[in-house]
Amino acid sequence: MNPLTIALTKGRIERDTVKLLSRAGFDMAFMADKGRSLIFESPDKAFRFLLVKAPDVTTYVRHGVADLGIVGKDILYEHPRGYLEMLDLNFGLCKFALASVASYDPKDHKRKRIATKYPRVATDYFHQKGEDVEIISIQGSVEISPILGLADAIVDIVETGNTLKANGLIVFEDICRISAQLIANKASLKNKPELLAFVKKIESLVGRKEVAFDEKISRNK
Ligand code: PRP
Repeated sequence: MNPLTIALTKGRIERDTVKLLSRAGFDMAFMADKGRSLIFESPDKAFRFLLVKAPDVTTYVRHGVADLGIVGKDILYEHPRGYLEMLDLNFGLCKFALASVASYDPKDHKRKRIATKYPRVATDYFHQKGEDVEIISIQGSVEISPILGLADAIVDIVETGNTLKANGLIVFEDICRISAQLIANKASLKNKPELLAFVKKIESLVGRKEVAFDEKISRNK
């Protein structure tokens, strides 16, 4: 039997996943001492984990190289096709927000420039408001762009809020909640019965979503 292959987002999502699977009763000791390796197979050959960058999780799942993937919802908003969303894992919690310097006026009618690592999310957000904006795609350190005059505001991830604060920005609107998601390849779901058994096993351990935050988001829509 081929191992169930799971693409994991390197870093915090990977560490939280290992904790979750340990709680689910899987012996994850084989991933304790990782070094620079990027592929790990469990000693019983039931599982294989691939450690990859977040956007590549969807690529491995879409192509069927991985049966399952674990990745933040932020990435799924930007890469929405070619997999099935199975489960909200309820960790890796943060949000998308519109932020800028205090003098920013969201009601200003001039065509705004919005800097972001998430052009699709930002475009959809302003489209829903019926506002035409110029999206400026950048790769990181988005928070400095309004200070330097590259953009009027940013759409970015906020977790602790420390990066915004350290750069003198404030949140003008919460856009939506983000959390880690379990995604599956469609053919694997059909052809590998052990995949569904695995999903059901961890489903029982995953807590409820933060309802209060979700309600706040739907009120803002
Ligand atoms: C993310 C995000 C913010 C920051 C938010 O960036 O784009 O910049 O984390 O976290 P905080 O609210 O806890 O401060 P990342 O660390 O991935 O770096 P990057 O800007 O270089 O992409």
